[in-house]
Amino acid sequence: MEVPRRKKKRLYLVLLVIITLFVGLQFFNQPIIGKPVTGTIEAPREVTAILERSCYSCHSNEQQLSWFEQVAPVSWLVKKDVDRAREVMNFSEWGALSPAEHQGKMYAILNMVQAGKMPLPAYTLLHPAAKISEDDIAVIKAYTLSLSKDEANKTAVTLVEQPEVIPDRLPDTLPISANGVKYTDAFKDWKVISMSTLFDHSIRVIYGNDIAVKAVEEEKFHPWPDGSVVVKAVWEQVEGADGEIRAGKFINAQFMEKNAEKYKDTEGWGFAKFSGQKLIPTGKTALFAQQSCIACHRQLAASTGYLFDVPLKINRKGLIQKNN
Ligand code: HEC
Ligand code: HEC
Repeated sequence: MEVPRRKKKRLYLVLLVIITLFVGLQFFNQPIIGKPVTGTIEAPREVTAILERSCYSCHSNEQQLSWFEQVAPVSWLVKKDVDRAREVMNFSEWGALSPAEHQGKMYAILNMVQAGKMPLPAYTLLHPAAKISEDDIAVIKAYTLSLSKDEANKTAVTLVEQPEVIPDRLPDTLPISANGVKYTDAFKDWKVISMSTLFDHSIRVIYGNDIAVKAVEEEKFHPWPDGSVVVKAVWEQVEGADGEIRAGKFINAQFMEKNAEKYKDTEGWGFAKFSGQKLIPTGKTALFAQQSCIACHRQLAASTGYLFDVPLKINRKGLIQKNN
């Protein structure tokens, strides 16, 4: 059947309008602004290869976009994703992160790829090569766990001399953090869950109260029972002439106290930091925990219930036992 002439004409007109609109749109195209690479992530090649292949398009300053992603209106959506992705995590500006942040981000990465949330599914649809395989996850996992193992290995350093004492105070003069976490020096008698020295020249000892230690031993920390308290005490690291490392000046004691009801606003954990000999609590209002503590610890919400050191030790033990 032949299309009547009038109809045909209208069809061309519609097409013309569409093309004109499309070309017109390009005047509003917003290219992704190039930014310099100031410090790329340093990790074993197996790891960076995966990140480069699957994540760099959004989380770095080295985009390699397909032509269709550079044309409006698709480019608008891509730009939005890339801008947001760079804002939360940028492998090209990785040098600005501290070792603790690097570790925290690696846990976030592991969680995301394990959950299949990254790379964004819409992206892998168009870029099947960016899909993450089980092997890729295993590589990322091994590297992420090794980061804390590195720290743990250094715990071979013993506290040879008494560190500067954590100030003793009369019970009624103990500080309370703005969100209601009370300082207690009882932790000096608690079990040491883990000890590490970090690249930033500090020695950290992590203590757990009975409830927390029991939860660790029984691997029942999903969720952590109310009443669990974990304290990280930090000292300056002093290196003696003989290369021996010991704890020097007391820097701070950081608390995490579990109480699902009381600390609802910070996902059930009360965070607090008491610094110096005066044990000055961080934060004028309870907001500080939301602003400066939970961001990193939340990365571990799904895997360990917000804690970095504790359950890892167990997982590691589990891994070692499996390998033997
Ligand atoms: C198509 C773009 C895109 C790709 C490819 C992509 N991401 Fe993302 N990613 C995003 C966006 C957008 C966000 C921010 C989501 C939001 O607004 O919360 C994000 C957030 C994240 C976060 C949360 C960061 C934080 O600290 O809050 C992690 C971790 C992450 N991505 C890891 C990865 C990893 C690992 C890969 C590669 C395996 C990857 N992403 C690939 C777009 C992408
Ligand atoms: C930049 C990321 C980051 C921020 C922000 C952060 N932490 Fe941590 N925190 C870590 C890492 C990494 C560890 C484990 C390594 C170590 O021992 O230092 C940790 C360990 C701890 C521990 C020991 C228990 C555990 O999870 O292993 C406590 C307690 C703690 N932090 C409290 C706090 C408090 C209180 C704040 C806010 C004042 C805070 N953290 C902010 C990264 C962070």
